[in-house]
Amino acid sequence: MPDRQRFDEEYYRRHYQGPDRVHSAPQVGRLAAGVSGTAAWLGVEIRAVLEVGAGPGYWRAWFRRHRPAVRYLSTDVSPWACRRFGHELRDISTWRPRRSFDLVVCQGVLQYLDDRGAADAIENLGAACRGLLYLEAITRHDLDEVVDAARTDTRIHARTGAWYRQRLQPWFVQIGAGLWAARSAAIPLYELEGAPVHSTLRRQSSAARSGSRAARPGRTGLQAS
Ligand SMILES: C[S@@+](CC[C@H](N)C(=O)[O-])C[C@H]1O[C@@H](n2cnc3c(N)ncnc32)[C@H](O)[C@@H]1O
Repeated sequence: MPDRQRFDEEYYRRHYQGPDRVHSAPQVGRLAAGVSGTAAWLGVEIRAVLEVGAGPGYWRAWFRRHRPAVRYLSTDVSPWACRRFGHELRDISTWRPRRSFDLVVCQGVLQYLDDRGAADAIENLGAACRGLLYLEAITRHDLDEVVDAARTDTRIHARTGAWYRQRLQPWFVQIGAGLWAARSAAIPLYELEGAPVHSTLRRQSSAARSGSRAARPGRTGLQAS
């Protein structure tokens, strides 16, 4: 069970206001623009977005401004954040949406869940995603080597990257820079566009694609010439 009360007004004030904030709306806007651009490049049309653990709602603000036609569902487990920022109250470890989304955003959330909750949340993210997942979850390595401890909430469940990869792998192919492609979308990736995959997984991906007409327009022509 997540500690919902932990995510109160003071939590958002500490982490999203003032000089020690984790990130700002303009920074997240640049990320959202990059993810949108990459989706278009990969041929994923973003019509519906699900965001889990949306907090201050910076992703939604970017989509409202730059992609107003996109249907956007923002959710969070914090009753305070839902009231203040207008999200649906949902716990991603127990809630699985009935429909699926072209883009699912889960930034800075899974590290707050215990192992059972995080594993269940990944299953729910997998079921909800029919295109791309943007995922950021701080790992044990990140705590040791990457994050600025003065500006980061380090009271988290620190797991290895391998722990996450093992649970994401049945649902997603890792692209990089936080992006994961839903296996069900069968997005044709050039070998060097994605993270290295075991040859068995590559064969499974090819088999999944063979049932669809998926190919990268233009770029397949280049290969043929
Ligand atoms: C570090 S904040 C990240 C907020 C936002 N995604 C961002 O990057 O700015 C973590 C957020 O995850 C939410 N959260 C924690 N556990 C959750 C759960 N089980 N389901 C949904 N949201 C959760 C918290 O309420 C909080 O808003």
